[in-house]
Amino acid sequence: MTTLNSPLTLKNISLRNRLVLPPITTNYGSSKGLVTQDILHFYKERSRDMGLVIVEATSVHATGRIVPGSLGLWDDSQISGMAKLVKTIQKQGAVAIVQLNHAGAKCIPEKNKRHGFSPSSVVFRPDVEPMTMNAEDIVQLIHDFSKAAVRAQKAGFDGVEIHGAHLYLLSQFLSPLTNKRKDRYGGDAKGRATLALEIVRDVRKNLGPEYPIFFRINAEERILGGQTLEDTVVIGRLLADAGVDVFDITLIAQGGWKEVDNKILLTGSSALPKDQPSGANVALTIAFKKEIGLPVIAVGKFGIGQAAVNAVKNEKIEMIAIGRQMICDPKTAGKMLAGNDKDIIACDECLKCFATIGKGERMACKVNQDLPF
Ligand SMILES: Cc1cc2nc3c(=O)[nH]c(=O)nc-3n(C[C@H](O)[C@H](O)[C@H](O)COP(=O)(O)O)c2cc1C
Repeated sequence: MTTLNSPLTLKNISLRNRLVLPPITTNYGSSKGLVTQDILHFYKERSRDMGLVIVEATSVHATGRIVPGSLGLWDDSQISGMAKLVKTIQKQGAVAIVQLNHAGAKCIPEKNKRHGFSPSSVVFRPDVEPMTMNAEDIVQLIHDFSKAAVRAQKAGFDGVEIHGAHLYLLSQFLSPLTNKRKDRYGGDAKGRATLALEIVRDVRKNLGPEYPIFFRINAEERILGGQTLEDTVVIGRLLADAGVDVFDITLIAQGGWKEVDNKILLTGSSALPKDQPSGANVALTIAFKKEIGLPVIAVGKFGIGQAAVNAVKNEKIEMIAIGRQMICDPKTAGKMLAGNDKDIIACDECLKCFATIGKGERMACKVNQDLPF
């Protein structure tokens, strides 16, 4: 019988259990994208019991940062700090991978630089003018992902995760809401997958056949006209053929269009609304897994209760990610593994964590005043 404590082998990596720290942008990095003491503290505290730790969205280019303190792998000078972070995580017994991202037009504003990369210039922030990418920009982006992946490998990470979710740049290409291109990078789900496929193939070529590549994808976008599960299955099959080993399944749980400063913006959040139960994404994750067959990670309000245990035991989902609950109580994973979920200090879903980074501030939590610990 598979339990949360069962080990798992994925290619050449072995996880001691089924629990995963999903990527969580903390805004604790330096303005140069470097690892800081606070980053080391945050990850050390949350690696103690985890099988796998996925380091937060790390930018492949200086213009692709989500927040001013996003970590970076766009320059060789960032490798040594990342190597320290890898050692910190591995010393606690967890496997360490890093999420590679370009925020596209969801990036922080930059003066006098070409930024705001976008498939079709949909606006996300009133202070960032999107810039429709041309063929040259696309070649550069593929190159940036591959170079960052090679730096991740040099830093000692056990694998990389390509961020294809949450309406950041690759997700904007995958989504019919944001990709209106008439060239080969747009059109139906297969066309919209072209950029992600070219990136995965190039990263695979550069990292070699054995190096684990994860891909984070929205199972669906709950916005009228958004990416459907059907689209995601088409895209998932293509990505699997291109070299993805594991899918990290997430979603746009809520969002839509709104007017700010006379601009129509698209908003989207990965957080399930309060009225949704723990493990509410399990059915979507199973539906994707059934079609693709590769190992998956499920996410969505896991922590207190039996949802994680059941997803692994009954539904055969390989891994369970615990987000906000690990910000709030870093001992959550250990308590779940010991069957002591009643001792978990509950996240009250106030969304202060999202709100603080959304304002460009350091991530804070109403319950855990001791962050980064
Ligand atoms: C403050 C904060 C930052 C996040 N940053 C990232 C990120 O960098 N990359 C990513 O893929 N997801 C990010 N997420 C989403 C989480 O990985 C996770 O999917 C989400 O919180 C849902 O899981 P939960 O219900 O257990 O919190 C973030 C979530 C929070 C709360």
